[in-house]
Amino acid sequence: MASRPPWVATAEGTAAAFLGFFRDRGHHVLPGESLVRPPDDPVLFTTSGMHPLTPYLTGRPHPLGVRLADVQRCLRTTDLDEVGDDNHLTAFQMLGSWSLGDYGGERSLLWGYDLLVDGYGIAPGRLHATVFGGDGQVGEDVVALRTWERLGVPVERTTGDNWWSNGPTGPCGPDSEIFVWTGDGPPTGSPASDPRWWEVWNHVTMRYRRHEDGSLTELSRGSVDTGMGLERLVTVLEGVRSVYDSEVFADWRRLLPSGWTDGETSWRIVADHLRSAVVLVGDGVRPAAGGQGYVLRRLLRRALTLLWRVDPGRSLDGLPLPLVTGTLRRFGLPEQGCERVAEVLPAEERRFAVLLERGRRVLRQPRFARPPTEEDYAYLHDTHGLPRDLVDQLRREGGAPGEVPGTGRRSAGDPR
Ligand code: GLY
Repeated sequence: MASRPPWVATAEGTAAAFLGFFRDRGHHVLPGESLVRPPDDPVLFTTSGMHPLTPYLTGRPHPLGVRLADVQRCLRTTDLDEVGDDNHLTAFQMLGSWSLGDYGGERSLLWGYDLLVDGYGIAPGRLHATVFGGDGQVGEDVVALRTWERLGVPVERTTGDNWWSNGPTGPCGPDSEIFVWTGDGPPTGSPASDPRWWEVWNHVTMRYRRHEDGSLTELSRGSVDTGMGLERLVTVLEGVRSVYDSEVFADWRRLLPSGWTDGETSWRIVADHLRSAVVLVGDGVRPAAGGQGYVLRRLLRRALTLLWRVDPGRSLDGLPLPLVTGTLRRFGLPEQGCERVAEVLPAEERRFAVLLERGRRVLRQPRFARPPTEEDYAYLHDTHGLPRDLVDQLRREGGAPGEVPGTGRRSAGDPR
């Protein structure tokens, strides 16, 4: 394996190397944008580096030129069920590079290869690529296929997995995904057959716009959009098993004791959700009954449910300050945000505890011995402030008298 340069020891050094590489190749480095999308955006959060650049990928000239790069904080709730495995996170940072009608897909892939192999020191034999194999609307991505073949990187053609879009309509195109082998021995199989191949970098040739009726039209000028998950890359470079074992989570490992949860998966979910909550609050989100605030509320409630399963007295008041300040710093947010985090998290925790008590009391009424009807859900929500998912959680988890279901927490207001 090629030797790893010394600056690739931290996420910060890894990101700086990425930006330096693209700066040296004429890219203007943009500041990352907020995680929170404005009200006129159809999505709640920035889910990829390209999202804030959508108008420029569809033709508008960018004031800073045709070659751009950045580190963008992102949040995805679509992967929530996978959080806890080795490489999915709710909040993460994406390294991105763009050619707005300038160079094409081949140049982007060649630079990608150079950065991974010469810059980050990943042995070429640990790389594998996939390319778009064509479908009824668009032909195979011959440029990407030939590029990988010339570089000697094993490449496969797929269809569904190698088409990138940021939603059902809008700019889209064939992509080429770069995988790195993370297993202990020599690489085996392919990304399709062995999960030890981790996808790290995606190069999209944005050439089309998808319309409401599913049809595609060619954009007036094609662009290249690439995205690489920083936390995954750091994990690969460190050679550790999971993102939670990488430098990114070193403080969490040190300061969030494993004994706070009932196992490794729960620990990972709690660390991921609290980290994501800190980023959301740092970016100005407050818990709420809808929108971005509801995502924050659900993350906190899920983390608390897991923490209270082990210790009903565990409080977010006890979240060590360096975890908050360190997370804000890593995500490019002002550290003053830690004061808001110190207010918002415990306040939401108290609210949740009260709601659990109320929910338990109400659901003990005989009319709720059977599965709730739509009318019941509406009543529980409108009269008692119990959202549907909390009702379902309480019903699923059941609970012994005197405890809040699923948490083991003593229910102080419970008369029994
Ligand atoms: N925009 C490329 C990606 O998110 O994978």
